[in-house]
Amino acid sequence: MPRNPAILPSIRSTRPALTAGIMEETGLDEVRLAALVQRFYAKVRADPMLGPVFAERISDWEPHLARMVDFWSSVAMMTGRYHGSPVVRHAGLPVTWQHFERWLELFRETAAETCTPAGAAHVVERAERIARSLHITIKNAEHPARNAAS
Ligand code: HEM
Repeated sequence: MPRNPAILPSIRSTRPALTAGIMEETGLDEVRLAALVQRFYAKVRADPMLGPVFAERISDWEPHLARMVDFWSSVAMMTGRYHGSPVVRHAGLPVTWQHFERWLELFRETAAETCTPAGAAHVVERAERIARSLHITIKNAEHPARNAAS
């Protein structure tokens, strides 16, 4: 895949030694993460279940893809590059756990295609954890009264 400077800033980590160790163990780097993000969202956009949910909220995809490379750089390689609020962004989305299962299915498939086995295991484990916590947040936001009472 050709390098796209818009979504491939050089690696500037706030924890360089940690990042270097993770990169060595997992084979992950910015090029692989950018390939993962590009390929994954191409599948998401074409997916009958997930595509419409994203189309409703995202019209300009380049900034979203760049943000997602920053996100994965932070989550997977500890670079500290992402400063956003995923929980706020997902609150109120019309999704159930079935949507998250499909999201994870496409993510696992794409990670296997773009990363080494160790790199794929590393990102998938984190995606599964974040998906579970986003889902809990969405469910809680749907039933504030019940949660306040319990
Ligand atoms: C059912 C599954 C999911 C759906 C339908 C979904 C949908 C979306 C949408 C529509 C946005 C754009 C929100 C906006 O800017 O208005 C978004 C942003 C984002 N999503 Fe998801 N998402 C899902 C799962 C996940 C998971 C599992 C992760 C993490 C592993 C994730 C990470 C993010 C991040 C980091 C952003 C950017 C937030 C920001 O603006 O800083 N999403 N998602």
